[in-house]
Amino acid sequence: SRVLVLNGPNLGRLGTREPDVYGATTFEGLAALCRDAGRRLELDVDVRQTDDEAELIRWVHEAADERLPVVLNPAAFTHYSYALRDALAQRTAPLVEVHISNPAAREEFRHTSVVAGVATGTIAGFGTFSYVLALQAVVELLAEEAD
Ligand code: DQA
Repeated sequence: SRVLVLNGPNLGRLGTREPDVYGATTFEGLAALCRDAGRRLELDVDVRQTDDEAELIRWVHEAADERLPVVLNPAAFTHYSYALRDALAQRTAPLVEVHISNPAAREEFRHTSVVAGVATGTIAGFGTFSYVLALQAVVELLAEEAD
């Protein structure tokens, strides 16, 4: 089944962006990691990134309309975008929030997620492997739905 892996602002700059925090993997590397995990897990993974809140919200609406599960790294939108949260609240399939770093171990403003309360669950702090864990979670959630 199809899964959207959506990424918010500045994640297109992975590899050069604060490598001490986010690691050396580029966004293309992350996308390849997700597609490889998808092949193993028999998921058709569609990886996207945008710096634009409106575009991200359109993708979330598309997922709701097409009943697609979503793995989402909302990046900084995590901490303040009520518009994104309201879009996600319309979800019709599992939603796994992911973070590369562990926001709970960082600055105070990263301790709040306005998205977490409408997600199925959150995976954070495992580097880019957070995405692989999130895709595994999607497989489990779809299997639970099926039986
Ligand atoms: C992030 C954590 C956020 O606090 C930050 O704004 C990001 C990336 C992560 O993946 O660790 O852009 O979502």
